[in-house]
Amino acid sequence: MPTCTPERTQVGIVGAGPAGLMLSHLLGRAGIESIVIDLRSRDEIEHTHRAGILEQGSVDLLVDRGVSDRVHRDGYRHNGIELAFGGSGHRIDFQGLAGASTQLYPQTDVFIDLANARERDGGDVRFAVTDVSVDGLTSDSPTIRFTDSNGAAHEIRADFLVGADGSRSLCRHQVPEAECTQYFREYPFAWFGILTEAPPSAPELIYNHSPYGFALISQRTSKLQRMYFQCDPGENVDDWSDDRIWDQLQTRLGANGYTLKEGPITSKTVLPFRSFVQEPMHHGRMALAGDAAHTVPPTGAKGLNLALADVRVLAEELERAVRSHDAAPLATYTQRAVARVWKSQHFSYWMTTMLHTLPDASPFDTRRQEGELASVTGSVAGSTYLAEAYTGWPGSK
Ligand code: PHB
Repeated sequence: MPTCTPERTQVGIVGAGPAGLMLSHLLGRAGIESIVIDLRSRDEIEHTHRAGILEQGSVDLLVDRGVSDRVHRDGYRHNGIELAFGGSGHRIDFQGLAGASTQLYPQTDVFIDLANARERDGGDVRFAVTDVSVDGLTSDSPTIRFTDSNGAAHEIRADFLVGADGSRSLCRHQVPEAECTQYFREYPFAWFGILTEAPPSAPELIYNHSPYGFALISQRTSKLQRMYFQCDPGENVDDWSDDRIWDQLQTRLGANGYTLKEGPITSKTVLPFRSFVQEPMHHGRMALAGDAAHTVPPTGAKGLNLALADVRVLAEELERAVRSHDAAPLATYTQRAVARVWKSQHFSYWMTTMLHTLPDASPFDTRRQEGELASVTGSVAGSTYLAEAYTGWPGSK
């Protein structure tokens, strides 16, 4: 192993997805140095399709903190969604019920904006590294070691570390079992996700419950659409021809009176479903943020929004920690972040179980689910909860 001179920084961040880059950006604005590393190349992250809905608070964070205003120009404002079941669609009017909207703007674009902003502001982001390890989390100088994309070994000594390294987090695994609690829930289904070169089939998202299973109709642009349908977690994309996919989607949407506009399918992936939280969201001088600390199933599009909400709080607490040379603000981060984490966990779980077809559902389960959907869409109180949670609890801190 070649020797290297250790580098110093104030905050070492593992993971250059939206959480890691936004954190580095916010710290930079507060005059705090950071180095961000990622195992993936920039190109690989840019081409991983993820969810596409931003809460108002996420849009504000991107715009007000000077990342980009492209989200307004290239995104699409949505003032509601359709919940389709029992033969027809039922609109949830976000503006009327919660005075808020969402913005259709894919996570890959959020990543591109953040990576460009870090480059513009002279941020230190190193993609495509290998052999990452973290060490000394409870010491005064936690360390990240890695090999850069040219094969050179590096050691970074930081005042604080952040694991923003996604659901298969390496950082999370450094927390001793006795020091944390992990909460899990598995689901007996997954989503089959596609991108299709077709015009939009609807102006807003359709969350479609049907006897044939759940489907979600989302959009990307006037020429590219994103759609999902509930499938078995073991499904293999190679078994699904375009015709077979369109047949499934048309049958599910047709049950509620919709017809989809078809086009060539350019991407097919199976997305696993899982709910997970690790508490506390810090250990010694390391904090966890985004999917490294918690995973939500994709129904309701909370994952990215929750990650951005984490780092908004974490940047404030890390600023205190760096300035006071004290790890106590990391405990305050956990305290402040965790309340939103569990509200988002509940909302994602609730949307998931309300809308999907359970493989072993009894006739009672099915009829009860229809009763639940009717209770939500038929009541101002019921639909207001959905509107507030979906748009990100407007006014909450
Ligand atoms: C998406 O557009 O990818 C999307 C939208 C809403 C969700 C999940 C994914 O709940």
